[in-house]
Amino acid sequence: MGVAGRLLAERHGRHRREHPLLPAAYENPAVAVTEVAAAWEVEGASGSVLVEGGEVTGYLLGAPKPSPVWGANVWVERAGHAVRDPEKVRDLYGDAATRWFEQGLTAHYAVVPDDAGLIDAWFRLGFGSQHAHAVRAVPHTPYGEHPELLVRRATRSDVAVLAELELVLPQHQGLSPVFSAGEVGTLEEALAEWEEDIDDRSYTTFVAEYNGRVVGMSVGCSLEKSSAHSGLARPDNAAFLSFAAVFPDARGIGAGRALGEAVLNWAAEVGYDCVVTDWRVTNLLSSRAWPSLGFVQTFHRLHRLLGH
Ligand SMILES: CC(C)(COP(=O)(O)OP(=O)(O)OC[C@H]1O[C@@H](n2cnc3c(N)ncnc32)[C@H](O)[C@@H]1OP(=O)(O)O)[C@@H](O)C(=O)NCCC(=O)NCCS
Repeated sequence: MGVAGRLLAERHGRHRREHPLLPAAYENPAVAVTEVAAAWEVEGASGSVLVEGGEVTGYLLGAPKPSPVWGANVWVERAGHAVRDPEKVRDLYGDAATRWFEQGLTAHYAVVPDDAGLIDAWFRLGFGSQHAHAVRAVPHTPYGEHPELLVRRATRSDVAVLAELELVLPQHQGLSPVFSAGEVGTLEEALAEWEEDIDDRSYTTFVAEYNGRVVGMSVGCSLEKSSAHSGLARPDNAAFLSFAAVFPDARGIGAGRALGEAVLNWAAEVGYDCVVTDWRVTNLLSSRAWPSLGFVQTFHRLHRLLGH
């Protein structure tokens, strides 16, 4: 386990040279090993180690997630692999996937650092890009207002439109080319949730008005609210752009940008150092909007379906 902690700490050190906002603590093998141990303790975890000249030079660990959304799956999470030579991840996967396939686990996911060598090796295992994790520093000086748009904090009188906007993301992501299996809830459910959550002070919700009508919303909170961004993927003192949506007929006029900037301004004002967000790379809207707001990708979630 200690060796795996060292390998992961080395990988994270290389990753941080490109993305210094990622947490420094995991460059310490004694801290990195806690992430490896956590990956190992997940129910159903299994994997492989690579031994060269009597020395462990790589490991790969995966475990299934219970949610049916992911199919008969195995996930290699953010601490689930580290190798001295990126090419060798292919040998590790070849060995581990033999057993995963035998167990009927055919939908594979791997969260891979933004490292060209590793991404290339995973691509040559038949994986493709599915999801992006990204970060950016808060603005030094606040973004200004947008002339035709009014961006303001949401209030209880916005609950009905917030519920409608809540459904916009899953509706959009059910379409081509995302084809996500995420469930679209009902308007009644969304309404009930917003009735309850509107006063929850741990989330900060903005709406954008265009010609006096609310056309979009965004939500900011502490990154600690998100289990998908923990450990190596949780920068210190980070806020989270957790949600944003603009009605289809109001897209492309700058509402998404204005709502994203509102969260960035809020994060700076509250005293956060950076803001994290994530998106499906096949979402043609968010995958263009967030990079143009300065978000830089740190981790790539890759996906492969076996047997076809
Ligand atoms: C993502 C979303 C919130 C963006 O809002 P929007 O109002 O459409 O975006 P904007 O008009 O403000 O554009 C934002 C940026 O993306 C860019 N952009 C938007 N559409 C684009 C396109 N088709 N091609 C290239 N760039 C595009 C814009 O150029 C702009 O950057 P710029 O200001 O530097 O020019 C909105 O499209 C949406 O609700 N999508 C569906 C739900 C969703 O994906 N939510 C995000 C969850 S991760």
